Amino acid sequence: MQNTKISWVDGVPVSSMFDDPYFSANDGLAETRHVFLAGNALPERFCDGFHIGETGFGTGLNLLAAWVLWVQSGQTSALKFTSFEAYPLSPENMGKALSKWPELNLYAKRFLAALQPDYSVDLPDLKFQMILGDAAQTLPRWQTRVDAWFLDGFSPGKNPDMWSAELMRQIGLHSRKSATFATYTAAGHVRRNLAAAGFEVSRIKGHGKKRHMTVGKLRDAE
Ligand SMILES: C[S@@+](CC[C@H](N)C(=O)[O-])C[C@H]1O[C@@H](n2cnc3c(N)ncnc32)[C@H](O)[C@@H]1O
Repeated sequence: MQNTKISWVDGVPVSSMFDDPYFSANDGLAETRHVFLAGNALPERFCDGFHIGETGFGTGLNLLAAWVLWVQSGQTSALKFTSFEAYPLSPENMGKALSKWPELNLYAKRFLAALQPDYSVDLPDLKFQMILGDAAQTLPRWQTRVDAWFLDGFSPGKNPDMWSAELMRQIGLHSRKSATFATYTAAGHVRRNLAAAGFEVSRIKGHGKKRHMTVGKLRDAE
């Protein structure tokens, strides 16, 4: 598979295909921690066998932030992390993007050194899989359910396929009991799609100057 094309703006990769940045120029790592980690009540919910699913792997920033938190919070088993990605960046560009954060250096190096040609990583503290292809095609065929979802497609206006009612329904179907999701967007149709997929949806304060983001928890089956 050919790696996707990007440009760089102040150290932030920007997708040529979607004309959208991979993470916020306003401290992407802090935003990841606010939106995806705190938004899924992590590290409090971490436990043996915990599995995170993600739509849109991009640079791996979310994965690294979650993995560092996993280890720092005292977990001794492996974090399971599966990401759905149609247009992977080259490992070189992932490394270049992640080099922005010296505190991630050690883990970025470990990740990239262990990254296999099929984009999997098998380490004692991380079992990672990237499922290549359009998430709309690959997620329905996937046989696993996860504890937490990081919904991180490009913005719904530019990347509508990553937020469709059907894909959000699949997110619900691939969620374990009491699973949660978090996303930076508060777009009304995305919230409605996630509510229809079985989640109790809340709009909460976004990161920094952003007014809102969205979190949710799978409703118990009746
Ligand atoms: C905002 S970026 C993700 C950023 C990422 N989570 C990180 O930590 O750097 C959105 C990602 O969604 C991917 N993407 C866009 N459309 C997709 C689709 N239909 N299926 C799977 N991945 C898709 C893009 O290639 C891109 O990597």
